Amino acid sequence: MSKIYIQGIGHYVPAKILSNQDLEQMVDTSDEWITTRTGIKKRHVVEKETCSDLAYQASLKALEDAGLKATDLTHIVLATFTPDTYVPNGASHLQKKLGCAPTPCFDINAACTGFLYALEVGRGLCLTNPKAKVLVVAAEALTSRVNFTDRSTCVLFGDAGGAVILSTEPGKAEVKNILIQADGSLGDLLTIKGGGSAYPPKLGEPIDEKYFVEMQGREVFKYAVRSMADICLELLAKENLSSKDISLFIPHQANIRIIEALTKKLDLDVDKVFINVQDYGNTSAASIPLALSEAWEQGRIKSGDKVLLVAFGGGFTWGSALLTF
Ligand code: ACO
Repeated sequence: MSKIYIQGIGHYVPAKILSNQDLEQMVDTSDEWITTRTGIKKRHVVEKETCSDLAYQASLKALEDAGLKATDLTHIVLATFTPDTYVPNGASHLQKKLGCAPTPCFDINAACTGFLYALEVGRGLCLTNPKAKVLVVAAEALTSRVNFTDRSTCVLFGDAGGAVILSTEPGKAEVKNILIQADGSLGDLLTIKGGGSAYPPKLGEPIDEKYFVEMQGREVFKYAVRSMADICLELLAKENLSSKDISLFIPHQANIRIIEALTKKLDLDVDKVFINVQDYGNTSAASIPLALSEAWEQGRIKSGDKVLLVAFGGGFTWGSALLTF
């Protein structure tokens, strides 16, 4: 089987910052509550930008990092649940902005695990098309689907984009393995019900809470820790590795307490764990490529490093990937 490589990495966040102090003015919450329960201090939020704007900026950086032009791309896979429109899909909006040649463009919705699902699909595209240069990008204008009157969810989320370019040509990191998983029986615990065919919008009817993120936080927390730990151990076992062999662990940035519980379960040294949830909150599908890109920029990753990624999100979906730099 051909080896698959990441050739370039990039990320982008919108300029506007929403701090915990700002949220104190909007709902009955406090910086102290948000910090101790989640680790989040601020998040970046869109004003006029859309999902494809975030994806575009992140993609330009990944292309530059790879030394490629948009016209070199053969496929665009966008992980998001907040596309600019349902039709056309979000990836088509992005393609238009990038000005690529005609390329297959499609979206993947696996909520916060979206990037790892898209990575797996991108890997498959490279395996069946050895000349492929696949843009795997994750972007969420997530605050467009957050209910800013619900204090239990509105403090958690932010907006961002992150991208990688995959190909069979040797690049900065090899994608050694990816595992993805889902359990639809638990879907109701984290959902945006309104707007699909189950709850279609009706002309003249007001928008209500079901059009925004609704979540049973405690249940999500429990399943998130268990599922992410299990899939990391499964992937490590498949690669004949132990957690001690991992140079850097990049978990989904949802909540510092989830990350700490996971670090403990995997018996990892805390200094091997990359954390930026304090600056961005939970950016859903964008969380992993945003963290990967920041870790790379900050020099946290060296040649020869084994980097373990893991995510969990609505569906429930979860996944893990191992990269070697
Ligand atoms: N400010 C102040 N008080 C609040 C806030 C807030 N923003 N939100 C909830 N509370 C109150 C509740 O009303 C409750 O008050 P009560 O005891 O008087 O009823 C109290 O705080 C405790 O509420 P819980 O929901 O039980 O708090 P918990 O300790 O479980 O923390 C949290 C909530 C942070 C959401 C936690 O459950 C969590 O992190 N869950 C994981 C959810 C997550 O990260 N989801 C993202 C998507 S999935 C993923 O990415 C992994």
